[in-house]
Amino acid sequence: MKIIEKIDDLQSALKRARQNHKSIGLVPTMGALHAGHIALVHRAVAENDVTVVSIFVNPTQFNDKNDLNNYPRTPEADCTLLEKAGATIVFIPAADEMYPEPDTRQFAFGELETVMEGQFRPGHFNGVAQIVSRLFDIVKPGRAYFGEKDFQQLAIIRDMVKQLNLNLDIVACPIVREADGLAMSSRNARLNPAQRQAAVNISKILNLSRGLRVKPAMTASETVAGTKKWVVEQLNAVPELRVEYFDIVDGQTLQSIHEWSDTTFPVGCIAVFDGDVRLIDVVFY
Ligand code: PAF
Repeated sequence: MKIIEKIDDLQSALKRARQNHKSIGLVPTMGALHAGHIALVHRAVAENDVTVVSIFVNPTQFNDKNDLNNYPRTPEADCTLLEKAGATIVFIPAADEMYPEPDTRQFAFGELETVMEGQFRPGHFNGVAQIVSRLFDIVKPGRAYFGEKDFQQLAIIRDMVKQLNLNLDIVACPIVREADGLAMSSRNARLNPAQRQAAVNISKILNLSRGLRVKPAMTASETVAGTKKWVVEQLNAVPELRVEYFDIVDGQTLQSIHEWSDTTFPVGCIAVFDGDVRLIDVVFY
């Protein structure tokens, strides 16, 4: 496995691979890798000749400086895991390598970006689009791998690929969970024992809410509005937890649904503060 810091070096390595007709898969990450990332890498390794994993804590997607400063950074442990997982190249650029000049590009994702994360993290998806489009431009992968936990990010990246007419497949990979159901996240490392215990309720309540979906709704609590209210009440009743938003949306448009029959692909998306750690999760109804 090669560890590369400079764009020129990465492009020389990839040029050779391309000349040899090798397929290239990219797994963009911000490091602090866990089993969820490693599942993306395993999939990329299985489907491509060359797997590039980028590790870059992208400052332009953080609207909260504290969150950026507190974001866990574990490059050595990451490289050990990636070597074991079979990655070909780890690309770890410095900030001025990725942004020699400030990136002033403004993307527009319409209604996909005004809801949920977009409401609470202004500028976040523009920053994600800046870095991911830059990585796509540098690596020119045939496939790129993203987790479904960041469900809205996935929709935004798919839209960006369409807007920029990029010739690559976006591969969505299922959420990987701890044994007790907590969705794996680099931010879990910041939870203290009480917060970690509280966090298990997020997936537990989301899972239970799947049972409320009845077609057609028989009682008020089984309506979409009733389900949303129940989830928020249950989670806010747990000391440590505070729901920032929970919405049930159409999985393609990301717009709120009002009746279960409004879509064939209802998805619940949530952001919850556990102490000062912000966690997100997704449930497919
Ligand atoms: O999902 C992430 O870890 C980041 O948003 C990504 C896609 C690596 C861009 O910085």
